[in-house]
Amino acid sequence: MAAGAGAQVKTDPMPVLRALVRRPGPRLAEGIVTHASGGPVDVALAHRQWAEYVRTLQDAGWQTLEVEPADDQPDAVFVEDALVVYGDLAVLTRPGAPGRRGELPAVGEAAAEAGYRVARIEAPGTLDGGDVLKFGGTVWVGRSARTDDDGIRQLAALLEPMGARVVPVPVRSVLHLKSAVTALPDGTLVGHPPLVDHPFDALLPVPEPSGGQVVLLEHGTVLLAASAPRTAELLRSRGHRVVTVDISELEKLDGGVTCLSVRLRDEGAAAGARS
Ligand code: GLY
Repeated sequence: MAAGAGAQVKTDPMPVLRALVRRPGPRLAEGIVTHASGGPVDVALAHRQWAEYVRTLQDAGWQTLEVEPADDQPDAVFVEDALVVYGDLAVLTRPGAPGRRGELPAVGEAAAEAGYRVARIEAPGTLDGGDVLKFGGTVWVGRSARTDDDGIRQLAALLEPMGARVVPVPVRSVLHLKSAVTALPDGTLVGHPPLVDHPFDALLPVPEPSGGQVVLLEHGTVLLAASAPRTAELLRSRGHRVVTVDISELEKLDGGVTCLSVRLRDEGAAAGARS
């Protein structure tokens, strides 16, 4: 039957875009600093910057779901480190920094409330979500100071039956894999070469360290930290729509735009394909 003659025209449903976020707590300035140059954190400014980050996601069409705050956990705002989502599965991590493991319970509850099956990385393995980069069925996992071989093995055992190809890569120069490398909407990987410890195929070099950290906001738009203006120009010159947000106070704690949210793309198993 011809469309328009009473037939139902079948269209693909728009993916529902949701993101878990977690507001910074009063002890934020006590967060762990490993690679960042640090400096005193202005906690009030950090709160405003976090609120602007959340607004930026919302303006781009994302529904933000707030994980219950963990005021005793200085690094809880970096919520991505606690959870890896692939398809309908949410994997509660086991952070390599023991002091961060108190962040997990409310994150697991939020993932379950959002409708995900919840699995977890078990001791003695360690895995930080910031070390997990997904695109197109490939899951690169950074073997870093926070993520060990057992954590990677456990993640692979959970994701490979779902069709993922898990690729361990070394991370030495930065805190997490996604501190150095992320993917553009077309799958091109971007990174600031001095920080990239693995010979990725066809990496697009970007001029600033934080330029290697992009969040895909959908419809070809990427989110970048304001600390990477030359990278923003480079990406615009290549046809990407770029929005930026100033997260200077969170960058002092080794944070980036990626680790401030867990993006939930409710589009079936393919949803796991992008970070
Ligand atoms: N400050 C973030 C982390 O070290 O995990």
